[in-house]
Amino acid sequence: MEGPDRNDMQGMLRYGYGRQKYAYYLMLSINDPQAARTWLSQTTFQSAAQSPDTHCCNLAFSASGLQKLGLTDLEALGFSRAFIEGMDTDHRNRTLGDFDHNAASRWEWGNREDNGLHLLLMIFARTPKELKTVYQQHKNAFLAHGLSEQHRIHAQYLQNAKGHYLEHFGFRDGLSQPEMHGTGRIAPPDHMVNPGEFVLGYPNAYEKLPHSPLDQERNLDLGKNGSYLVFRQLEQDVALFWQTLLDRSQATAADPSPAIELAAKMVGRKPGGEPLVVHPPQQANDFRFYEQDPLGRHCPLGSHIRRANPRDSKSKGDQSKNFDAAVRVANRHRILRRGRPYGLPVAESLQLEDIIAACLAGEVQGERGLNFVCFNTDIDRQFEFVQHTWANNPKFGGLYNDVDPIIGVQREKGRMVPTQFEVPDYPVRKRYHKLPAFTRVRGGSYFFLPGLNAIQMIATQFKG
Ligand code: HEM
Repeated sequence: MEGPDRNDMQGMLRYGYGRQKYAYYLMLSINDPQAARTWLSQTTFQSAAQSPDTHCCNLAFSASGLQKLGLTDLEALGFSRAFIEGMDTDHRNRTLGDFDHNAASRWEWGNREDNGLHLLLMIFARTPKELKTVYQQHKNAFLAHGLSEQHRIHAQYLQNAKGHYLEHFGFRDGLSQPEMHGTGRIAPPDHMVNPGEFVLGYPNAYEKLPHSPLDQERNLDLGKNGSYLVFRQLEQDVALFWQTLLDRSQATAADPSPAIELAAKMVGRKPGGEPLVVHPPQQANDFRFYEQDPLGRHCPLGSHIRRANPRDSKSKGDQSKNFDAAVRVANRHRILRRGRPYGLPVAESLQLEDIIAACLAGEVQGERGLNFVCFNTDIDRQFEFVQHTWANNPKFGGLYNDVDPIIGVQREKGRMVPTQFEVPDYPVRKRYHKLPAFTRVRGGSYFFLPGLNAIQMIATQFKG
C-alpha cells in the first residue's frame, strides 16, 4: 500500500520529536489576511521527510482561521462537520462531558467565545534556551505580519533517568501507538492500520478514501497529506489522585504499594508501562485483552487503556471466537497521540515514591497536566467515539456504573456525579465508590493540519 508523502506531510504526523523536549503551542489571531498569507509563504514548517536535528515548527488552522484567509465556504470545500462546528457545541459538550467543572464556558481558550483563535503554531526545541530564542524569532516575524498572540502554552516532555517519557501522575506514556501501512514502520500486526486513518488522501480502515477538502473547480487538493488535530488541555490534580488512592486502598506513607497497585488497575498498565496481562518479553504492546483476560481480573474492564483501545474485546453477548474481527472493529477508532505534559512535575526526580511523598506532605503547588493532542481523519468516528462511547460510557464492556477513571465523566439529571471504579477479582470484586474527577478540561479546539503544499495553496489561491 502507498504510504503518505513524507516530503509533503508535516513532521508531527510521523515524529513525536522526542529530541525536541520543549515546546510552545501558540494560538495566533490573524489581523491582516494579506500579511498573514505572506508569512505563510515565507515560514518553513517541518516536513516528515526526516526527524529534525534542531528546532522546528508545525502549523494548524482553526475553521475561523481558514475563513479569515478567504476559504469562506468550508462546507462546500468538504471540510469535516466536527471541524467546522468546533469542539464547543451544545451537542459535543454533552458527548465529550464538557459540563460542570469541564464546562467550555470556563475554558481559558478554544470555546465558542474565542473568536480570535485562527492559527496554532507549534514550536519545538531541544533546550529551554533554544526554545526562547526560536520563539523570539517567530514572534518578530509573525508580529510583523499582523498576527497577534492570543494564548501561549508551554509544554515539555517529562523524561526520567531511564529515558522514559512520563505523564504527571507518574506513569509511562506514549507507549501504544498505531503504525501506518506503507510507511516502512513496523508494529505488532494488531497495531498496523491504513494510512487514511490519520492522513487524508489515502485509504482508511474501510479501504476508502476519507472525506477530504478539495476545491473541485480549481482542482486544489487541500486535504492531501493533511490531518485533523484534536487539542484538549487537561489539568491533572496529582495530589488529589494520590491522596484518594492512598486513602481508598488503605495504603500508608511507609508502604504506598496498595495505592500504586490500584492506580495501575485504573490506568491498565504498571507505572513502568508493563501491561497487566501477559505479553511477550520486550513487546510491551503486543497483547490482547479478551482472549487472555475476558473478565478483567488482570486488567480491569473499565481501566483507561482498555476503554481507550479495547483491542479484541467484543460486545456483550457476542460468543464468537473471532478475536481478529474484534481487533479490526476496535481499530476503526484509533488515534495517533502526540500529547505533551505542561507545568512543573510534582517531584523533580520524577520518581514515583517522591511524587507520592510530595502529595502526602501537601507540598504540591501550581497547575500541571497534559496537552492532549491527537491526529485523526474522522474526528467523529475516532477521537469523539473514544471519549464518548468508550471513556464516558457507564455501561462499557458490560459494566454497571463506571466511567474511565482518568478521563471519564458521568452525568445524572444534568449534573456531574462522582464516579465508581470496579476491580474484578475472585471470589469477590472490589468497587471504589464516589471517586472524584482527577482531570479537568482547561481548553480545547479542533484544528486542520494541512500538508505543506496545501499551506501554500491556502497562502496563494484564496482571497478575502
Ligand atoms: C490527563 C489525561 C490523560 C492521562 C494522564 C493519560 C494517561 C495514559 C497512559 C499512562 C497511558 C498508557 C501508556 C500508553 O500506552 O501510552 C495511556 C494510553 C492511552 N490513552 Fe491516555 N491519558 C490521558 C488522556 C487521554 C485522552 C483524552 C484520550 C482519548 C480520548 C486518551 C487515549 C489513550 C489511548 C488511545 C491510549 C492507548 C491505549 C492502547 O492502545 O493501549 N488518553 N494514557
